[in-house]
Amino acid sequence: MQKKITVVGAGNVGATLAQRLAEMELGDVVLVDIPQLDGMPQGKALDMAESGPIMGYDSKVIGATSYDPTAGSDVVVITAGIPRKPGMSRDDLLKTNAGIVKAVTEQVARLSPDAVLIIVSNPLDAMCLVAMQTSKFPRNRVLGMAGVLDSSRMRSFIAEALGVSAECVHATVLGGHGDTMVPLPRFSTVSGIPITELMTPERIAQINQRTRDGGAEVVKLLKTGSAFYAPSAATAEMVESILKDKKKVLPCAVYLQGEYGINGLFVGVPVKLGAKGMEEIVQVKLTHEEDAALQKSAAAVKELCCSLK
Ligand code: NAI
Ligand code: 2OP
Repeated sequence: MQKKITVVGAGNVGATLAQRLAEMELGDVVLVDIPQLDGMPQGKALDMAESGPIMGYDSKVIGATSYDPTAGSDVVVITAGIPRKPGMSRDDLLKTNAGIVKAVTEQVARLSPDAVLIIVSNPLDAMCLVAMQTSKFPRNRVLGMAGVLDSSRMRSFIAEALGVSAECVHATVLGGHGDTMVPLPRFSTVSGIPITELMTPERIAQINQRTRDGGAEVVKLLKTGSAFYAPSAATAEMVESILKDKKKVLPCAVYLQGEYGINGLFVGVPVKLGAKGMEEIVQVKLTHEEDAALQKSAAAVKELCCSLK
């Protein structure tokens, strides 16, 4: 039977993701937004369906402002939320998006009780906790997308610096999705060669910082809104690994219960992604410095989650 993927939030990330998923023929796609925007998700879905004959896909794309068409989804991606507006504090955004993610999760969990949830809405790590608490899904079926994006940014910067194909560059970025994220040069390679063998420490430090600032760099250029091409590509890679049971090892935000010395928080770590969602947390031995940076990042996530209470 054809797989079903629901994408909630038909804005920049959601709509671009829906198009990527349809083009990858991973299943039928349902794109949902709020009733006040009735016609918008339907219009975008129709437009995508009409590009199928040219792009060569037969996936159905359905737009909706109710949740009925989402029933029985295999994967549900939540991109719903609002961006920070002038005069709004970080806490205001946190609380507004937490309310949105909670309301969306209630609907999707009721109609798709066996789905794997992928959260994209920011602040990412805190929104994952809201989704897990609301859905009451086991931790293997609630994942946050951030590490694949942050690593892809780092990969592109390494490829550019060395003048090599981005395809043969791999990078690892752990931690929360914010200023404290932890790029790991020791686990970043060009065709298996650690970048620490190929670049000076100064050049690596610049790439690490550009990776941490990656989201802000795009925001500054766009002036309105935030990145969506790379975020949708990163989310599509996660959906593909789950639906094809590929068991890719990717950095994702997952609920940690003692792994990496962190308890009761969503933090980005390497995980094996397959049909069951998160199938294994891959634990690597970190140096004292790397571990200290990860703990600092976890502390920042904890502070964010505490201000939700
Ligand atoms: P956007 O503003 O273009 O789209 C958001 C959509 O969500 C809008 O169409 C809005 O109507 C919809 N929405 C709001 N409340 C809703 C509700 N209750 N139910 C259904 N839909 C609802 O924003 P964009 O650029 O698509 O970003 C979406 C979210 O993803 C933001 O929170 C953004 O910060 C986050 N993001 C996270 C990334 C990550 O690495 N985790 C990367 C990029 C974006
Ligand atoms: C990003 O990193 C906004 O979280 C989003 O681009």
